Amino acid sequence: MSDAVPVNASTPAAAPPLREAPLLPGVPLLGQLLALRRDPIGTFLRAAQIPSDVVRMQVGPRDVYLVRRPEHVKYVLQENAGHFSKQTRGYDALRAILGNGLVTSEGAFWLRQRRLAQPAFHRQRIAQFASTMVDLTGQLLERWEKEAARGGIVDLSQEMMALTLRVVGWTLLSTEIGPDSPVVAEALNELLHQVMPRTTRLLQLPLSVPTPMNLALARARRQLDGIVLRIIEERRRSGQLGDDLLGMLMAARDEDTGEAMSDAQLRDEVMTIFLAGHETTANALTWTLYLLSQHPSVRAKLEAEVEAALGNRTPRFEDLPQLGYVLAVINESMRLYPPVWMLVRRVEVDEAVGGFRLPRGSFVAVSPLVMHRDPVLFPDPERFDPERFVGAAPNALPRFAFIPFSGGPRICIGNGFALMEAQLVLSMIVQRFRLDLVPGHRVERDPAVTLRPKFGMRMTIAARRG
Ligand code: HEM
Repeated sequence: MSDAVPVNASTPAAAPPLREAPLLPGVPLLGQLLALRRDPIGTFLRAAQIPSDVVRMQVGPRDVYLVRRPEHVKYVLQENAGHFSKQTRGYDALRAILGNGLVTSEGAFWLRQRRLAQPAFHRQRIAQFASTMVDLTGQLLERWEKEAARGGIVDLSQEMMALTLRVVGWTLLSTEIGPDSPVVAEALNELLHQVMPRTTRLLQLPLSVPTPMNLALARARRQLDGIVLRIIEERRRSGQLGDDLLGMLMAARDEDTGEAMSDAQLRDEVMTIFLAGHETTANALTWTLYLLSQHPSVRAKLEAEVEAALGNRTPRFEDLPQLGYVLAVINESMRLYPPVWMLVRRVEVDEAVGGFRLPRGSFVAVSPLVMHRDPVLFPDPERFDPERFVGAAPNALPRFAFIPFSGGPRICIGNGFALMEAQLVLSMIVQRFRLDLVPGHRVERDPAVTLRPKFGMRMTIAARRG
């Protein structure tokens, strides 16, 4: 007897068979492995040239599927997010420092931690951070006044890192971490630059093997641990938990056991917020000010808006709706230079996207950078044009076309925080200064995990008012 299912008139038409996504041609056996090491952005943009909704890239023994239609990205990041995990080598590398915090954890554990942290990022709550952000920016600009009087040149990238680090420190951890900025920058640089090499290596040695890379990573971890554990220890010693994010995490009790978060878990969450909460925003601000220096008419329009909304006074939270063009400029800058330019997930069950097979154990890549430069979604994509984000214009975009903060359940928890901070900081800078690229300074993208300017961003700062 055959056990085939009988076909009758009411049986729905069979779905067309799944297809194999076209392959981005590469080197035999290695595929894109070396290309990804050499030029990851170029490799992804090349894949995006292949006229198919899904493109396969071979990376050594692994298959990575690039999805690039907004509806497919939505499927992966939101509708079926449970089938796509963060069990990838890239996240493993991040785990070596971030541990099992909000960025790297998964499942029920992640959900519980996310719910614990969420109140610290509610709109009313972050509104209260505006004055701290303004004060800290004001302090930086005071220093710039002196620099400007000397015809000053700054590395904007470093300046923005230090500022956003202080902002996270004061708003979420109630601590001064400005002086630690160089150490944080060095350790973070080490971590971010190890992710791609670790992802594309054929042989993966355990972290305990004392290779030069492992030793450097362990050193970076020790440096960052020194800072994070000090912050936690100081709070414990103060005898008061406080009502910032750190206090909330320390006060949290497990619903079932009544137990507080372990020291190790607290360390992982603080480390995650501390790192995820500053570097991305700093990159966004740095690229934005670079783009403004290259587009004087946009800069003039921005200055005019800030002038009209604020005159000479410092901004407040309530001013943000009057600074819509500032926000449009930031969004357009994150379109061209998304601070997180690529997201990868492991396919946990046999899946299909757009009629293409995504076998279990393969990987799926979503690249904000590729999406944001798709001429179908963003006509004339290389052009810096903030009008794309003015007023109701962005409503015409399909959902998941513009994804600097990712989307779905794992969307950036700090997106409101980051946008508010960027809007305030940028307004205050253009109100008082004009920044221009130092002639001859090389501007290149450094696609580590985040998109940073490879050689920093040396800019001259000139005061706009005496
Ligand atoms: C312009 C600035 C920022 C950008 C572009 C950005 C982008 C992102 C992206 C793309 C993700 C998803 C990462 C993934 O799937 O692995 C993410 C996650 C996250 N971000 Fe941000 N971020 C920014 C600022 C911030 C700030 C200011 C904070 C905190 C103060 C923050 C905290 C986090 C955390 C904790 C997660 C993990 C969320 C979760 O999975 O539950 N980010 N961010």
